[in-house]
Amino acid sequence: MERGTDIARAVAALRRGGLVAFPTETVYGLGADASREDAVAKIFAVKGRPRAHPLIVHLAPEAVLDDWAIDVPDVARKLVAVAWPGPLTVILKRGPRVSPATTGGADTVGLRVPAHPLAQALLRAFGGGIAAPSANRFGGVSPTTAEHVAADLGDDVDYILDGGACEVGVESTIVDLSRGRAVLLRPGGMPREAIEAIVGPLANADAAAPAAPGTLASHYAPRAQVIAVDPADVPAAVATAARGGVTIAVLAPRAALAGWGTLPARLYALPDDVAGMARELYAALRDLDAEGVDVVIAALPPAVGLGEAVGDRLRRAAGPRERDPEHE
Ligand code: TXA
Ligand code: MG
Repeated sequence: MERGTDIARAVAALRRGGLVAFPTETVYGLGADASREDAVAKIFAVKGRPRAHPLIVHLAPEAVLDDWAIDVPDVARKLVAVAWPGPLTVILKRGPRVSPATTGGADTVGLRVPAHPLAQALLRAFGGGIAAPSANRFGGVSPTTAEHVAADLGDDVDYILDGGACEVGVESTIVDLSRGRAVLLRPGGMPREAIEAIVGPLANADAAAPAAPGTLASHYAPRAQVIAVDPADVPAAVATAARGGVTIAVLAPRAALAGWGTLPARLYALPDDVAGMARELYAALRDLDAEGVDVVIAALPPAVGLGEAVGDRLRRAAGPRERDPEHE
């Protein structure tokens, strides 16, 4: 597979019904023409993702919302007017331009306008919606560089648009606005507080409003066993893990590591600010997998701002894989 910044080449691949990986501000996406069932089918095949798991449709900033969704409530217009381009996906009733294959047969669709300039250039030149999940194999850690995509997908993708490292580093926040009240399906790159300032309090996903399929435990999981704990509990967690004779890493903000120099663990520093933690989290998990670490003890940040998404991903990385037959 080839890699570069050739938009014309990427568009040609999409028009042929092929797959193009592209950078967004959150993570890299594995894109196909959202209006074509045959193209979208390739995404599911390459990712190894169940067909019923809906994909997000990415749109150019100029796209007309009503081309892609129907019955759009005012609250959705108000929210996307502020949030787009940016790390927010809204769930609305599916419009006729979206292939049902894209939404796993659902009558709703996830829409988002990404902020990355290469993503926008691609979407403008293509002129349609691009269906794209994160460009990793099903159940694994999302890619935040073109190198990650190449390592995960190799020749299964026709072209990789290389936009460098993603700035946000965790996936978009998903808000369901298709059923009369605003429900937070997945915390992500746009903090809950910023969304609530526009739409009011968000309901949490529950039995009446099932979470997005990708939010099942053990999605976003590296090979290593991840144990997510409060920072104060890191030393005890390391001591417990050390009894098992395994290779241990501690993943925490640089400032926290300063006190843990004597722990029997490889100390992996993340930035002290939560935006930096989000940006570097997935690359850190990949690094530690590459080093062959068995157990990662990760310090949970406070659940405010981006800390909610970072904590969510750490807990999911720690989730029990064996309990989920689909390993999601
Ligand atoms: O930041 C992101 O959102 C990245 C970039 C590439 O845009 N994409 C991403 O896609 O994370 P993916 O497929 O890995 O996760 C999309 C999530 C899944 O959990 C899926 O179930 C949910 O969005 N989703 C998509 N459409 C939906 C719908 N109509 N109803 C409920 N959930 C939906
Ligand atoms: Mg994903």
